Amino acid sequence: MKNLENKLLLLSIVVSGFFISCSQSETKAEAADVNDNEQTTTDNKALALLKTNCFNCHNPAMGESRVAPPLFKIREHYYDEEITKEEFVAAIINFINNPTEENSIMPGAVRNFGLMPKMSFKEEDIQLIADYLYDNDVSSDEWYAKWEEFKKSPASVPTDLSYEDLGRNIVNETKSNIGKNLMKAVKERGAAGAVEFCNTRAIPITDSMAVVLNVKVKRVSDKPRNPINTANSEEIAYIEGWRKAKANGEKYPPKVTEMENKMVGYYPIEINQTCLKCHGIPEKQINTETLANIKKLYPNDKAIAYAEGDIRGIFVVEMDKK
Ligand code: HEC
Ligand code: HEC
Repeated sequence: MKNLENKLLLLSIVVSGFFISCSQSETKAEAADVNDNEQTTTDNKALALLKTNCFNCHNPAMGESRVAPPLFKIREHYYDEEITKEEFVAAIINFINNPTEENSIMPGAVRNFGLMPKMSFKEEDIQLIADYLYDNDVSSDEWYAKWEEFKKSPASVPTDLSYEDLGRNIVNETKSNIGKNLMKAVKERGAAGAVEFCNTRAIPITDSMAVVLNVKVKRVSDKPRNPINTANSEEIAYIEGWRKAKANGEKYPPKVTEMENKMVGYYPIEINQTCLKCHGIPEKQINTETLANIKKLYPNDKAIAYAEGDIRGIFVVEMDKK
């Protein structure tokens, strides 16, 4: 796509050089076209990110059951006539990277829905989302029409992404799906009744990049709750590497390797506040009833006594080679 854009740009420069003496206005129109194309590409990228990372919870469709306020409500709280784009974007990025009560400017939403779970996004992706939110009035009829149109277009795989980024997108889509299901279930049934909702196998992955790429996604752990999620030796090595790096205050990036003609990515899963009701300290954070339900379903459960920021396990994403 970028290549095509560059070619178009080059073409318009060449063309404008040629005809500069005859028609000034035509070349201006062409330059505007190129700019429009670039804008559309950026907008579609932002919409795709919103679709996979945010709209599971911040569903724009009215009337659907909701686990979080719609995005236009959030924009209303963050946006006013005086705020600069830089300030707006910085505020949104700050909250997403660190969703705490102190960083929230919507105490009512935190009370109604519970705090947004912490997820990990690429900095440039959140930047793109925040820019888009500033530039677009996502409450307008015009925007809804655009979104409805975009929603209908089949999931496509951007050709310029690395395997690591493709895997990350799929992991984020899965995470936000699990997050939504869990938040909804905990809200409606309490933690004890929500025990069966922390499960990737319950998530439909039709119309997603995962289908287009013929991807398999699983979660594994060195301290599994369900024994079928037990990590193998290579996966455990990654988990231990992550722990060691964290103890040294270092970052530990995802890992992608080629295995039997497939590309396989490992992505860490961290514990946040939302998880402690079922993976925290028994009787203190996990209540008696929840504990009993867990024990009944998983007599060999090892997945307790975690703290915020611990590694709980990893996503393993298996992709066909492009
Ligand atoms: C798993 C569900 C979930 C996902 C996925 C999610 N959010 Fe949220 N978000 C929430 C909930 C719940 C709230 C309301 C409570 C709060 O403010 O923390 C919220 C609130 C917010 C707020 C307002 C914060 C405040 O209180 O001032 C912003 C901004 C936000 N989300 C942005 C995003 C963006 C952008 C994405 C996608 C990258 C996203 N969220 C994905 C659940 C989610
Ligand atoms: C309502 C209870 C509940 C909450 C909240 C919860 N989990 Fe779980 N979790 C479970 C149960 C039950 C399983 C076993 C699911 C299965 O059979 O695959 C599980 C399994 C997992 C697994 C798969 C590996 C394994 O041990 O079987 C991971 C990874 C995981 N949870 C991470 C998290 C994270 C991260 C959070 C917070 C964002 C979280 N969970 C919140 C109940 C919960």
